[in-house]
Amino acid sequence: MEPYTPPHEPSASTDKKPSFSTNGHYAPDLNGAHQLPLAKRPRHGVCLASEFAHHETGVARLNNGSFGSCPASVLRAQGEFQRLFLAQPDAFYFKMLQPALERSRRALMPFIGLKESESSEGVALVDNATTAAAIVLQHMAWQFTEGAFHKGDVVLMLHYAYGAVKKSIHAYVARAGAHVIEVPLPFPLSSPDDIIREFRSSLQLGNSNGRRVRMAVIDHITSMPCVVVPVRELVQICREEGVDQVFVDGAHAIGNVEVDVEAIGADFYTSNLHKWFFCPPAVAFLHSKGKSNSLHHPVVSHEYGNGLPMESGWIGTRDYSAQLVVPDAVDFVNKFEGGIEGIRKRNHEKVVEMGRMLAQAWGTDLGAPPEMSGSMVMVGLPGCLGICSDSDAMKLRGLLREEYKVEVPIYYNSRRRVEAGEEGPTCITGYARISYQVYNVEAEYFVLRDAITKLVNDGFNCAMLS
Ligand SMILES: Cc1ncc(COP(=O)(O)O)c(C=O)c1O
Repeated sequence: MEPYTPPHEPSASTDKKPSFSTNGHYAPDLNGAHQLPLAKRPRHGVCLASEFAHHETGVARLNNGSFGSCPASVLRAQGEFQRLFLAQPDAFYFKMLQPALERSRRALMPFIGLKESESSEGVALVDNATTAAAIVLQHMAWQFTEGAFHKGDVVLMLHYAYGAVKKSIHAYVARAGAHVIEVPLPFPLSSPDDIIREFRSSLQLGNSNGRRVRMAVIDHITSMPCVVVPVRELVQICREEGVDQVFVDGAHAIGNVEVDVEAIGADFYTSNLHKWFFCPPAVAFLHSKGKSNSLHHPVVSHEYGNGLPMESGWIGTRDYSAQLVVPDAVDFVNKFEGGIEGIRKRNHEKVVEMGRMLAQAWGTDLGAPPEMSGSMVMVGLPGCLGICSDSDAMKLRGLLREEYKVEVPIYYNSRRRVEAGEEGPTCITGYARISYQVYNVEAEYFVLRDAITKLVNDGFNCAMLS
């Protein structure tokens, strides 16, 4: 079969190339969706066009989920911290850094269900969720090597756990003697009960044959496919079944769904602040219940033994500015009507609306009901696109980026084909994961809709891609 060469200049009605205004947003004429350029319409007192003017012009950016976004006002604040450090490093290190980190931790606390007046000793700022996972999993590995847990005891994780976190579980905990069990999850899903059922039965399996489940790693929002997991219920089940430690990986959570670490009740909870909370890359928080003195940063420096918040506040000379601008991100979200809750609610409503619009145009379905989605949804792609492997999904994603200027992750659902025994053009084997963040506009989703429609009309199939 000939490799598919996409047409250089799309033709006919759905082929209209998007035109862009000078401020970096889609021009209003596309499908008549927007009558005014975004720059002239400050929303909630925020000039979105200038806050996100650094976004590349002409790209339909439907993937906030992967790397997040940071407004100009927060970037300016970050630049000021960088300047202060370079201007007088000694004064910055001795007088400013630790109080500024504490200011960030305290600014965050009300957003994760903690009172600003409480002690912040359970809240550490780290680089990202990957680092938080390394901290927790290293702690687990020591329980095995120091004899608190027995070889063969179980660590449970979701089948859809993030790939890097899965590797971390193997690198730290399985190597120290843990037996890893993956909770199989169906996709598409129709209700949170689908997850709860599978989780219970894996837990029972883990606690059989003289073994004990020592740790459960639970995603709050899985990455691919993307679904909001009933995390409170799962933590509760873990408590009932005597699981020693529960780690919730909420990498996508803060700013996307409600995060209340007390109500969730896990031993450890992490979320990135650079994904949905408008911080620059890279900063995440790791909350640990009770005192965190037994947790250590994998990079050991002067503050070793002084508690995780202090340890992670100095892991050698580097740029700490991303961790210092949490209050500026809070100022940004507070400019919007309803603050972060208002942002979450509007993003959720819009992404569901856009997801349904796409599914209707393509004759497909959403991968999960709206109540299992935050600001991202999985939209089924037409089966005739022939997405038959992860590599097909990646190539289609590349095609959409290069030829249609749409940035959107594509998921290949191998289980769908195997489980249902479905084959052929009607079976949905691929999903687009669309995000909605404050800077998005409807016209960007029309670009994706029209790109896929055009591929279908052209008889495109992933097998045509080299
Ligand atoms: C569920 C989940 N966990 C962990 C991570 C890792 O995040 P980071 O790369 O910021 O460490 C991601 C990234 O998307 C994720 O989706």
